[in-house]
Amino acid sequence: MRVAVLVSGRGSNLQALIDARDAGALPVEFVLVASDKPHAQALRRAEDAGIATLALDPKGYANRAAYDADLFSRIAAAEPDLIVLAGFMRILDAAAIAPWRGRMINIHPSLLPKYPGLHTHARALEAGDREHGASVHFVTDELDGGPVIAQARIDMRDGDTPDSLAARLLPREHQLLVATLSLVAARRIALDADGVVFDGAPLVAPLRFDDCRIGDR
Ligand code: GRF
Repeated sequence: MRVAVLVSGRGSNLQALIDARDAGALPVEFVLVASDKPHAQALRRAEDAGIATLALDPKGYANRAAYDADLFSRIAAAEPDLIVLAGFMRILDAAAIAPWRGRMINIHPSLLPKYPGLHTHARALEAGDREHGASVHFVTDELDGGPVIAQARIDMRDGDTPDSLAARLLPREHQLLVATLSLVAARRIALDADGVVFDGAPLVAPLRFDDCRIGDR
């Protein structure tokens, strides 16, 4: 499977994908890593791995639609089968992403549908939640609102802070993203008009990778 990855920052999720591929655990070809942040560490990681990169700064575009149209036409030129949003911190234009329905996934640091958007760790703490986690979902034009494929959970502990939660969740995010992408690459996951299909049957609840050991770093 040909995969393009969109990133904005540190790129630890991207690195987990690269490492899993290098270990022979993820049968994908990374055809492009693209970023809205020219100085993103994630782009350096991609270069180090010999993956083609694209840095496209939104400055200089008239509006979101113009930027996204250009970004996605350049992504399309790389002919990916799938786009992975791995810490891509921009809201996407509905028209630009419509052709990619069922072919674009995102990792989000909450147990969706809880806490779409930003500051998920702080919001889980403020709500007094006992558990927290991350989700991988198909991207639709609703922010962090597309059908959820899989989740990983962590317990919340007394004294947790947004930073401690983020640190404890991050390695689980890496496992979750690798495990989910490997299912997608094996064509075991799809999106139809009613939602996620897993091994040919409707997925009634997100897959849980709570105890997943794949791709831990
Ligand atoms: C992750 O927490 C991801 O879930 C969120 O942004 C963070 C990206 O981290 N959307 P990294 O750039 O992959 O290290």
